[in-house]
Amino acid sequence: MKATNIVWHPSKVTKEDRQKLNGHKSVVLWFTGLSGAGKSTLSVEVEKELHQRGIRTYILDGDNIRHGLNKDLGFSAEDRKENIRRIGEVAKLMVDAGIVTLTAFISPYREDREMVRQLLGEKEFIEIYVKCSLEECERRDPKGLYKKARAGEIKGFTGIDDPYEEPENPELVVETDKQTLEESVKQVITYLEENGYLK
Ligand code: ADX
Repeated sequence: MKATNIVWHPSKVTKEDRQKLNGHKSVVLWFTGLSGAGKSTLSVEVEKELHQRGIRTYILDGDNIRHGLNKDLGFSAEDRKENIRRIGEVAKLMVDAGIVTLTAFISPYREDREMVRQLLGEKEFIEIYVKCSLEECERRDPKGLYKKARAGEIKGFTGIDDPYEEPENPELVVETDKQTLEESVKQVITYLEENGYLK
């Protein structure tokens, strides 16, 4: 049964107060792309760089979140949607808490990513397409999952027999099969600097 008769209770410290205390804006860096494209690797390096600059950060990562909060979900379109919906809500809370939140989920459906964008305020959602050819992701195959998917041992694997809808208007495109990790990190940090997020 769904809850009714619930009323939002405001707090006396606002998001803006928390941002002021932290000395920077809070925002979601939404990394999307194929498995093996480098979302987790890139988010880890960007977080490290931000942390060294005194920015408060947190990473929500697909494989990790699926061990806990979302361990009841699989990979059907419906479950992926619910996965992204919950992460969107958690990310929204983190932004309210004043934190620069990095998320690393395949998030293959445009509609689901758009839903998260709508949850957040303007300029609070930065969609970063971690672009890498399927051939290169398969060559890397860090978890051996593409091999299993090709062998038919995993069904509905993104890029093999499940869709990935490329972002149409992402804030950033990072091409991990064409540039170095350092270049990609710099690209993200520069974007944040130039758009006033780090002050
Ligand atoms: S999402 O599609 O719902 O956004 P998410 O990022 O949480 O996916 O999880 C993807 C990770 O789950 C992959 O990196 C891979 O390690 C693992 N995985 C297991 N089965 C699948 C599958 N069928 N499709 C894609 N990833 C899978």
